[in-house]
Amino acid sequence: MPGLIPENILEDILNRIDIVEVISGCLPLKRAGRNFKACCPFHHEKTPSFMVSPERQIYHCFGCGESGNAFRFLMRHERMEFPEAVEALARKAGVVLPQIKAQDHKGENLITQFYKINELAASFYAANLNSAAAVNAKNYLLKRGIKEESVKLFRLGLAAHGWDTLMAHLRAKNVPLSLIEKAGLVLSKQGGGFYDWFRNRIIFPVVDIKSRVVGFGARVLDETQPKYINSPETPIYTKGRNLYGLNFSKESIRENDFAVIVEGYLDFIVPYQEGLKNIVASLGTALTPEQARILKRYTRNVVMVYDADNAGQLAMLRSLDIFIEEEMEVKIVSLSLGFDPDSFVRKYGIGPFREKIAKAQGLFDYKLAIMKSRHNPKEAQGKARISQEMLGTINKFKDAVLRSEYIRQLAQELDIREDALLEEAKKVRKFPGYAGANLRPNAKKELNINPAEKLLIALMLRESELIHYIRERLDPADFMDEKISKIVSLCFNFAEEGKDLSTKSLLNYFGDEGLSQIVCESVFLPDELSQQNKEKLIEDCLCRIKEEKIKLTRQRLHEEIKRAQDSKDEQRLERLTEEFNSLLKKR
Ligand code: UTP
Ligand code: MN
Repeated sequence: MPGLIPENILEDILNRIDIVEVISGCLPLKRAGRNFKACCPFHHEKTPSFMVSPERQIYHCFGCGESGNAFRFLMRHERMEFPEAVEALARKAGVVLPQIKAQDHKGENLITQFYKINELAASFYAANLNSAAAVNAKNYLLKRGIKEESVKLFRLGLAAHGWDTLMAHLRAKNVPLSLIEKAGLVLSKQGGGFYDWFRNRIIFPVVDIKSRVVGFGARVLDETQPKYINSPETPIYTKGRNLYGLNFSKESIRENDFAVIVEGYLDFIVPYQEGLKNIVASLGTALTPEQARILKRYTRNVVMVYDADNAGQLAMLRSLDIFIEEEMEVKIVSLSLGFDPDSFVRKYGIGPFREKIAKAQGLFDYKLAIMKSRHNPKEAQGKARISQEMLGTINKFKDAVLRSEYIRQLAQELDIREDALLEEAKKVRKFPGYAGANLRPNAKKELNINPAEKLLIALMLRESELIHYIRERLDPADFMDEKISKIVSLCFNFAEEGKDLSTKSLLNYFGDEGLSQIVCESVFLPDELSQQNKEKLIEDCLCRIKEEKIKLTRQRLHEEIKRAQDSKDEQRLERLTEEFNSLLKKR
């Protein structure tokens, strides 16, 4: 994989940076002996199985198997391409990269091109808004109370009336049509040809945490439906992965140690321009686990503000359970009928809005009130329905004390016996059919490998002198596991060339074939290993690997002999028998 960038430069970068520092910029790491640990950012979990080794400068998750060095971490976590990750860390390390690409467009990858196209489009739309033809749009923004500084800051724009104004603009800059289409900016016409997707709308660029434009939302200037249209999902834009405005609000969220979540573009922009800076918009009602996890990097406290006339009230409430699962604290503000954060702030000002936020209700109390208004808490059926819904939320608390405390409160509120609730709670736990349950994106791929092979690799990686010793006694082909065999042969090759590659640099040679998982996992094998009688351990491993190989060869020969007997192939039979006998002697 290193390809364009010389290996020694990659190694140089890895030597100068500290993976602990890189990762802890993204998630909180806790010391655990000589390592650090955290809840894995790559899959959903409640107890930490994500480990970082400062000595080896690698990470590994025992839950999902995700592992690698600092480059890999940035690639996965910040969704960077390899060259981007190298660039980012080179900058941090103060390493100057050799100039490779220059004007070479072929080398530029697709992802970068998507960002570029979106950037061109955003600038184009913004310029439109400054043109003479934009009077209506300007007036509309004025009417909505959007200040000029906000138009600039959030790069609001205008898609003109025409069917192909953006297309013509991008074509004039030699952007291939196929790419413009893939970026979701044009659609193909039935009879052939293309037309602009966004027309006659105010444009809201959606920007990622690094201020790169990943997509667009667009609003009509009147009451036409649909009110908003959005970019489709592209390689750089996945719905439910972004939080609108976070690139502007992240520092404030950290400082205030809480985030206000609203739904719409304008619900974000208006409070922000009035001075409420710790705010993000979810762009849709239901919060996703990804969004919760993104926020968790900055704070554990969120206040959700939403309009009371929201149709999917219960669905929205259930989606808030995600925060409980992430051990975050979620509070709710519901505005009176007909108001959303935008219209509330415009009518009453930011002060009263802040007061509302300060008085936000905890999820439990809020949800209970809603349920009591929907079902009669004095009747048996009503009590059952309310309990059912509340237990769904209560069960999401990881802390047993909190669970039992809420169950006590619920029993009191509904005037029922606590043990009845406890019994129901057990049932709900057993049947997680309840909304939002069971989110396991990447289950760990189990590796079925002979422990001796794994152990030997681990020892080899710990002490590179061992590589020479083992190389004289085993062949890469002696390792039955294909992946282990590949790693071993790579190590042997380096040893032959007189190179002494560290674990972290070795990883630069692996793609996605699961090799880094084996290497990284072995780094975190228990420390007692190195204290035991190492020579004996190594001999045991060598012995067992050889035995395994002999066993398998014997099985294979056995079967081949049988087949040769069946087909009466005398010559072949004789050769196989001889092979078999010499194998027996070897033992
Ligand atoms: P709302 O319907 O609450 O709109 O949708 P809003 O933000 O208050 O819009 P204004 O104030 O009338 O301009 C909330 C969010 O849901 C998404 C948008 O992200 C919107 O900001 N949405 C809404 C769509 O994607 N499409 C739609 O047709 C409507
Ligand atoms: Mn609104």
